[in-house]
Amino acid sequence: MRLDRFLTVDDFKRVAERRVPRMFFQYADSGAYTEGTYRANSDDFAAIHLQQRVGRHITTRNLATTMLGQPVTMPLGLAPTGAAGMQSAEGEMKAARAADRFGVPFTLSTVSICSLEDVAAVSKRPIWFQLYVRRDREFTGRLIDRARVAGCAALVVTMDCQHYGQRHKDVRNGLKVPLKFTPRFVAEMAIKPRWALSMLRTRHRTFGNFAGHVPGAATAAALAAWMSEQDDLTLNWQDLLWIKKRFGGPLVVKGILHPDDAREAIAHGADAIIVSNHGGRQLDGALSTIRALPRIVDAVGGQCEIYLDSGVRSGHDMLKAVALGARAVFIGRPFLYALGAAGEPGVTRLFEILRAEADSALGLMGETDVNTLGAHSVEMGG
Ligand SMILES: Cc1cc2nc3c(=O)[nH]c(=O)nc-3n(C[C@H](O)[C@H](O)[C@H](O)COP(=O)(O)O)c2cc1C
Repeated sequence: MRLDRFLTVDDFKRVAERRVPRMFFQYADSGAYTEGTYRANSDDFAAIHLQQRVGRHITTRNLATTMLGQPVTMPLGLAPTGAAGMQSAEGEMKAARAADRFGVPFTLSTVSICSLEDVAAVSKRPIWFQLYVRRDREFTGRLIDRARVAGCAALVVTMDCQHYGQRHKDVRNGLKVPLKFTPRFVAEMAIKPRWALSMLRTRHRTFGNFAGHVPGAATAAALAAWMSEQDDLTLNWQDLLWIKKRFGGPLVVKGILHPDDAREAIAHGADAIIVSNHGGRQLDGALSTIRALPRIVDAVGGQCEIYLDSGVRSGHDMLKAVALGARAVFIGRPFLYALGAAGEPGVTRLFEILRAEADSALGLMGETDVNTLGAHSVEMGG
């Protein structure tokens, strides 16, 4: 399929649905319980309006900025997403390479398929690493050390996923670790031969950050048993202090939706926070992130950079979040769909689409620099 036929995130989504086994496509395209927060994340972006201003000289426009002091070509990064290597073989390495070339950060999930060492090796720009704190604190400590040794530019600690909001689609599809080759799944592979073949050709088919790193878990079944016991419900603000010390670099706290939690994160060492509800995959009924953002911006008062994810589907959404006080946005599902639809070139095409949209909107707003957007750039509407 020609890449220039993709014009929107939904275009990638439609093609990904055809190419990726249903179990993995729906793992991405799902939210917790009623999926109300999943829907609200993007619906609430639509309720915000960009100010159209005319009569201004808009020949030269700038989308470049910095994130944690590093230059980026637009205010956007790729969010950590577990098992991205199941949307497309070696998906994490493909997306990291695309982000590197485009000049935006890639964040690798703890539960990625490709290991952090393998992904760091394909990107000249240091990747960011997302940490799920595991009950096995020795393992967690070693994982932090590995991120530091691999040169990761930031450690993103996810705080909103200590236990799981149920996604009914995953239950119905029988999505489990380790993967079971049920007759239904085998039949799916038969009608998605391109996906199946690419998976057969790669050695990256398990959780790369765990396999071979858990003493006593030599088989897939033993590793799965160990992983299933690792949710740590004790995770609290104090833990950020040792995590930050052990990593020794910038700490980003992900999963902030309340102003008081933003203050706590900063008091415990956060260099940046991500306003996130995990893309509506955790607390169903929680506020959308774009609605939560303004109060958090007020509470933080410029003490650290604030990023936002959940529901960003266009360059216009990117500008809305920046206007409301986010330094940058992160996207999850949009890049997973792009990977599933067209692999690495798909992710590059997605970046081009988002940049072109943001650039066009910036000009039509009568603005020339993304760094000077503010409350004057948007109007809250119904
Ligand atoms: C399939 C999938 C897997 C995810 N896995 C993780 C993960 O491993 N770690 C994490 O911190 N967030 C994870 N997230 C949440 C994303 O980092 C991000 O918060 C969310 O996708 C943003 O919403 P969006 O998909 O609407 O852009 C995942 C999201 C999706 C869709």
